[in-house]
Amino acid sequence: MSLDELKRQAAARALEYVQDGMKLGLGTGSTAKHFVELLGERVRAGLDVIGVPTSEATRADAERCGIRLTTLDDLNQLDLTVDGADEIDPALNLIKGGGGALLREKIVAAASDRMIVIADETKWVQTLGRFPLPIEVIPFGLAATLRGIERAFAASGVSGPLTIRKTKDGHAFVTDGGHWIVDAGLGQIPDAPRLAGLLASIPGVVEHGLFIGLASTTMLAGSQGIRVIERP
Ligand code: A5P
Repeated sequence: MSLDELKRQAAARALEYVQDGMKLGLGTGSTAKHFVELLGERVRAGLDVIGVPTSEATRADAERCGIRLTTLDDLNQLDLTVDGADEIDPALNLIKGGGGALLREKIVAAASDRMIVIADETKWVQTLGRFPLPIEVIPFGLAATLRGIERAFAASGVSGPLTIRKTKDGHAFVTDGGHWIVDAGLGQIPDAPRLAGLLASIPGVVEHGLFIGLASTTMLAGSQGIRVIERP
């Protein structure tokens, strides 16, 4: 079975948790896109839900699928968010932001009673860090912010190159919020909660891709079927 088929299976399993009348956070990325498409099928068959998209890309997908949308300006709390991840560890801490939507993804997940992470089994790791950690920054004062990030790395015992994310034509990648992304190739992050706290205290850092204690459940699709893993 291809990775894409596994992603769709994980998305289909998460759909079983959706009930009529729910307020949903809609994630971003190729796995979350499967969820939005499958949710759209249910909506067209009569399911009544309302969604908050975590990116402009997901907004467009959800609109195309006929899903009713709102914003966190109109709602301050959601029942369930379903989103993908770049890495998941056994505590269900995550690295997210490979698609650049980490800021809205984290705001939406934090406003949700429950977050279900859908993924193929290649995203499961014992220790976070193999996937470069995305850090969303303000372009103003970038050199000073990068110095602050390096200090945070040193204080939490990690190191690695920082790369400003670029588009294919060589320009800086700009997020939906108008910020830049710095990707940190750390290899391993032994104490992700500590690093998360240190990064969050740097003024030029808008948000980072460590999602600590936000995911409730993971649907991990592999060749042996789907593992449903609850946060310990
Ligand atoms: C988007 O910014 C990310 O957080 C995605 O959720 C993550 O990159 C997973 O994407 P895929 O489902 O495409 O692997």
